[in-house]
Amino acid sequence: MTEPATKDSFRVVHYRGKQFTIPVFSTEEPIVFTPDAALNTVAIDKGSPVIQMLNTDWDLRNFKTPRRPVSLGILPLDEQVLMAASLGAPRTLDLPIKFPGSNIMRIPRALAQAAPSCRRAANFALAANPQGYFNAYCYLTFDQGIVQPGMLQREAPCHVDGFQGARWKPKKRNNFSFTVSNVVPTAYYIQPFDFDELDEAVHNFFWEMNRQVALTNSEFAWQPEEYELTLMDCYSVHRGMPVPGNIPLFRTFERISFEERIFDRLGNAHNPLFDYDWEMVPRDIEELNLVAFDPTCDPSLRVFPHQDADGKPLPKGQKTQPKLK
Ligand SMILES: [Fe+2]
Repeated sequence: MTEPATKDSFRVVHYRGKQFTIPVFSTEEPIVFTPDAALNTVAIDKGSPVIQMLNTDWDLRNFKTPRRPVSLGILPLDEQVLMAASLGAPRTLDLPIKFPGSNIMRIPRALAQAAPSCRRAANFALAANPQGYFNAYCYLTFDQGIVQPGMLQREAPCHVDGFQGARWKPKKRNNFSFTVSNVVPTAYYIQPFDFDELDEAVHNFFWEMNRQVALTNSEFAWQPEEYELTLMDCYSVHRGMPVPGNIPLFRTFERISFEERIFDRLGNAHNPLFDYDWEMVPRDIEELNLVAFDPTCDPSLRVFPHQDADGKPLPKGQKTQPKLK
């Protein structure tokens, strides 16, 4: 187990030319709570395809059903102010804040501003799906910083969170993620996606999502409001949007993911408020050598953001964005 730190600090990890700054959290003054389904005030719409996927296993056919994220409403003003405040919170990727077999959430003090949304998400998740909530890990991602006009804070291409590729046999429970951002909300594509002809061991599904969105000219794009907390599932195709206009924005993004699997990817944060010791593994989609289902589509739809149209590495700081409306 990693030695608990009394002060917040950082650890830098390099692999395959990538550099990650991993926060090391203090164990002092943690935020610990047990959610309460009775405190959830959001109606649970049993007709929503997202709600219907709770506590079921991964199945590619579910992409054929368009699905709009479930809204938990706009955060109250005090929570908006706290979430978006610049308080020096470290960039945190998939920090486990809940373990299976318990309902309790444990959040390091440095991420206190993320806690109110975690509480809302947990109350809803417990009300909608008590057994699934109890059985799942919960992972917190918190990313805050200045984003330049025309640039993105996070991933560029269409994708889903919690995709289960060829290495997952048998398939696991579906991932559910609550997200909220203060500005430039994520775009979702409320349309059917058909992957019948694709092979998960051969094709890059995210590039194919780009292509199928391009085929509809992004006609079915939908964005939540600023500060609107929403719930998506692992079939909700989405992407980050570039900052519009010509003024840099200070963006805060928060994601609270419920998931059966261990997220042991190198670069993810460790929570010293739990006693666990995972071997963190370098893992990239690039290493799978997947190819485009349609190699004739626009090159921007079938390269990684750090590659140019020919698949060659771009200079540091430059990114290819998919040519989508
Ligand atoms: Fe995502």
